[in-house]
Amino acid sequence: MPFLSDTLSRVKPSPTIAMTNKAAELKAQGRDIIGLSAGEPDFDTPANIAEAGRRAIAAGKTRYTAVDGIPELKRAICAKFERDNGLAYSPAQVSVGTGGKQVLYNALMATLNPGDEVIIPAPYWVSYPDMVLLAGGTPVTVACGIEDGFKLTPEALEAAITPATKWLMFNSPSNPTGAGYSRDELKALTEVLMRHDHVWVMTDDMYEHLAFGDFRFCTPAQVEPGLKDRTLTVNGVSKAYAMTGWRIGYAAGPEPLIRAMAKLQSQSTSNPCAISQWAAVEALEGPQDFIAANNAVFERRRDLVVTALNACPGVTCPVPDGAFYVYPDIAGCIGKTSAGGTVIADDEAFATALLEEEGVAVVFGAAFGLSPNFRVSYATSDAALEEACARIRRFCDRLR
Ligand SMILES: Cc1ncc(COP(=O)(O)O)c(C=O)c1O
Repeated sequence: MPFLSDTLSRVKPSPTIAMTNKAAELKAQGRDIIGLSAGEPDFDTPANIAEAGRRAIAAGKTRYTAVDGIPELKRAICAKFERDNGLAYSPAQVSVGTGGKQVLYNALMATLNPGDEVIIPAPYWVSYPDMVLLAGGTPVTVACGIEDGFKLTPEALEAAITPATKWLMFNSPSNPTGAGYSRDELKALTEVLMRHDHVWVMTDDMYEHLAFGDFRFCTPAQVEPGLKDRTLTVNGVSKAYAMTGWRIGYAAGPEPLIRAMAKLQSQSTSNPCAISQWAAVEALEGPQDFIAANNAVFERRRDLVVTALNACPGVTCPVPDGAFYVYPDIAGCIGKTSAGGTVIADDEAFATALLEEEGVAVVFGAAFGLSPNFRVSYATSDAALEEACARIRRFCDRLR
């Protein structure tokens, strides 16, 4: 009898971890490696938020709390939805978990039965399909190519819906592409969903505040109020407030779903860290001005990276609307041979050779379900980005 569960055998080890391990291994050997694979801001948590965490410890707010969040945080989240998205939710419609990741996982675990399908536009955040598999559902990926700006079209959505569809997982701005849906694009998708009332929407708005230029963020329940009763709007403090390690994410949606998610959490992790919850109250209620300041830095870096990558032979890099990633297409590099003698058969070979020959760690597109591409996170210093882009240019220049 096998010791490990059948459930575990359904999921694959993360390809991003394999790349990260390889980069760490080379670094340990003394190689000069530039990492462009981190999914987190390189800024510190703002001082007022960190101080709120310290105050919580000093005040002894270090015990178990209500399973899915303290009332103060739930109220702050309701105020955030009203202020930023024009969405009215009551605290009973809000769930707080250990990062957006746990909230997404809870929602899938609480709702999926064998045979239930979940539509996932590709490229997708690496965890979506595996979370669906762990929860016993069937991921249905829909390729969204560079010609559509890496975005799901209404026609592709319509074609993917079956009687077994339970959720559409939606993410804008996107990890890994940075693509954001305009209000009109989102409206066209919600019109399809309005014709299929058995399909629910899980919208992952984690990068809401990382939006650049003319792009204006909007979320499905805001664009189509008729969908609110079957939408779970997921968000968190990790990215916008540089709080990845504090582990606070949240969601708002219909009360029976929120209660089901709390039931699950009560038998797994219980409450998210009490101290972090108090820090998150300060994040949502305190000054928000540093978000614009951080975004100005991210936007400058985005432009630096997009310009530099588009100068590389064989590489086409669209300009993203938000998040801190670019997802260049490398169709023009496939089939060539690197200076070190590696045949670039696919994007994994490209990323591996780039790491070994030039010491730049990126994540290959197959990990996100759409190839041939790679993902660059530009949440690192300008100097590191400039050097990394120069190395990528040299690598591409030498492809034969
Ligand atoms: C699209 C997306 N959703 C959710 C998460 C999870 O965020 P958290 O750190 O709050 O669990 C991430 C983190 O990388 C992400 O990129």
